[in-house]
Amino acid sequence: MPERGDIKARVVALREQLERWNHQYYVLDEPTVPDQDYDAALRELQKLETEHPELQDPSSPTQRVGAAPLSAFESVAHPMPMLSLDNAFSDEELGAFLQRVMDRLDVESLPELVAEPKLDGIAVSLIYRDGVLARAATRGDGTHGEDITLNVRTIGSVPLRLGGDACPDVVEIRGEIFMPRAGFEAFNEYARRNGEKPFVNPRNAAAGSLRQLDSQITARRPLEFCAYASGQHPESQWPKSHWEVLQLFASWGVPISRYAERLSSLEECVDYYQRLGDQRDSLSFDIDGIVYKVNDFEAQSKLGFVARAPRWSIARKFPAQEAVTKVTGVEFQVGRTGAITPVARLEPVFVGGVTVSNATLHNMDEVGRLELHDGDTVVVRRAGDVIPQVVSVIEERRLPDAALIAAPSACPVCASAVQRVAGEATLRCSGGLVCPAQLKAAVRHFASRRAMDIDGLGEKLVEQMVDTGLVRDVADLFRLEQRSLLTLERMGEKSATKLLAAIESSRRTTLARFIFALGIREVGEATALALATYFGSIEAIRAADLDSLLEVPDVGPVVAQHLRAFFSAQANQQVLERLLAAGVVWPAVSPAQNAQGPLEGQTWVVSGKLESQSRDEAEEALRALGARTSKSVSGKTSVLLAGPGAGSKLAKAESLGVEIVDEQEFLARLAKAGA
Ligand code: IVH
Repeated sequence: MPERGDIKARVVALREQLERWNHQYYVLDEPTVPDQDYDAALRELQKLETEHPELQDPSSPTQRVGAAPLSAFESVAHPMPMLSLDNAFSDEELGAFLQRVMDRLDVESLPELVAEPKLDGIAVSLIYRDGVLARAATRGDGTHGEDITLNVRTIGSVPLRLGGDACPDVVEIRGEIFMPRAGFEAFNEYARRNGEKPFVNPRNAAAGSLRQLDSQITARRPLEFCAYASGQHPESQWPKSHWEVLQLFASWGVPISRYAERLSSLEECVDYYQRLGDQRDSLSFDIDGIVYKVNDFEAQSKLGFVARAPRWSIARKFPAQEAVTKVTGVEFQVGRTGAITPVARLEPVFVGGVTVSNATLHNMDEVGRLELHDGDTVVVRRAGDVIPQVVSVIEERRLPDAALIAAPSACPVCASAVQRVAGEATLRCSGGLVCPAQLKAAVRHFASRRAMDIDGLGEKLVEQMVDTGLVRDVADLFRLEQRSLLTLERMGEKSATKLLAAIESSRRTTLARFIFALGIREVGEATALALATYFGSIEAIRAADLDSLLEVPDVGPVVAQHLRAFFSAQANQQVLERLLAAGVVWPAVSPAQNAQGPLEGQTWVVSGKLESQSRDEAEEALRALGARTSKSVSGKTSVLLAGPGAGSKLAKAESLGVEIVDEQEFLARLAKAGA
């Protein structure tokens, strides 16, 4: 039986270790241990705490999974009021603010400022006593908020204990809790699939997640924290400026914005606003503006406050990501796999920096949930590179006789019956390639750059080819003749010759591209590549039964079913025969059924913007070739694929001497590996 003192020491050591790993993972974005090690340490700590209840501690990392539900939040007073900010909507308004600052300080030149992104989340106050997170509260009305300590403890990037040696007896750290876009999209995707109500935007998602009385629910939501101000703090030995406070927070392991900068002129402020504005769509979280703050605390206190906002700070707003407009109609679009997507036609509206006249309604479940009526006034959201969406309906503005939007019973393009698969929210046209909409999309996909790569076969041309009956399936492309092409509108001798040459040269392809080009449901590039590498020939893939398909990395039961369904349909078999007869060829691939992927043993990190595909797709392709992929660069990284904007990961890879490749080199390696 170990001594009690030993157990206590072990508990303390485990807590410190776990918090250190946690900080490395959530704040520094640099995991240093495999998940299994983290889990093993957490389990050991959980076991010790259960066996020795007297050692339990509310700031133990075991509490991050959530505690017993509350019946209500307690109201708590803020030691100092939590203020809001005045807004500036133009460079002129910002200039006027800076002029007022100079006038009030009675100085000729602008004092130093700090600029930071204005995060679109929920303001919180965190009070640490003796370095331990003692209380977290919402802003509330500015003087009183709600005690959300249990919920905030579950957020990985909030330290339960401040690191470093010198932290004050009591200190209040203020900042924003927000939900990064990827987590928000994933959460909504899950909600939509399960018939639950999605969140309107990441801000509401963060608010809704923090408002849970059951902190175990909060623990499952992807929330993050970023500090931007201090509240109550000791007077002595406290920094003299906002910038230094941020650095002090960082030294304690508290996350601060890596975009914060010190500036000293209106020009620099305008430039910062433009730079962040340009990056806005590619950031991983929503921002709604820039906050400028006078850096020096003495100057801040000279400037003071008006009503609810400080005179030393202003928020310069970005164009709103949500706007109100009217739905002029709903169109049902038929995709390549027959999926029917309702799309709202809108009175054009400026949102998220562009004019939008269409927005997706996702599926009929979503239309039903919104109870969308013809002519409804709606809120449209456009953020990041996500397509614009209708997020809510303003019911009060509904016209008296407006008709409810109903699901079509027949395909709007080919009039085939519409099917609804049990358990799926999607409506599907049952017409298959008889449906011109599906056929057009299939031909476009077949010819696309990453599939058969037929140059010059654009959307308008495909439309005409299908509408005139020149192309009834993808194999017909290889039978096109100059004579028939010339019957198409706007098709001259020269373009016809060029198109035929492009079709001719597309015959020589790779097995992976060919499989991808067939447009089998849920078979993307990575899966196509995995199939090609595993089986080595189209005959073997065609003949494969469910069990052998399931052996392929990247292929699960759903994809395996789609593959079987595709290859057993007679119409598809005929098209395949005709494609092969037309002379589509590829270099032989040696089947890797039992071999390892060509990139086995390598760990890749993908960062920055890619031209040819999304980062997710690139990672999938790498995994299909046997590589491991990771989100952060460490000593274990083999290669960093860096696109423009790779930023801190690029710097880190350089400092660690990790091999760095650009997109071109990446594509070359994929090709070499058989992709
Ligand atoms: S400073 C007295 N900095 O904006 C100054 N606020 O409209 C207090 N916000 O309630 C706020 N990012 O929730 C500050 N970098 C940032 C911010 C920020 C987002 C929010 C905060 C506040 C609201 C003010």
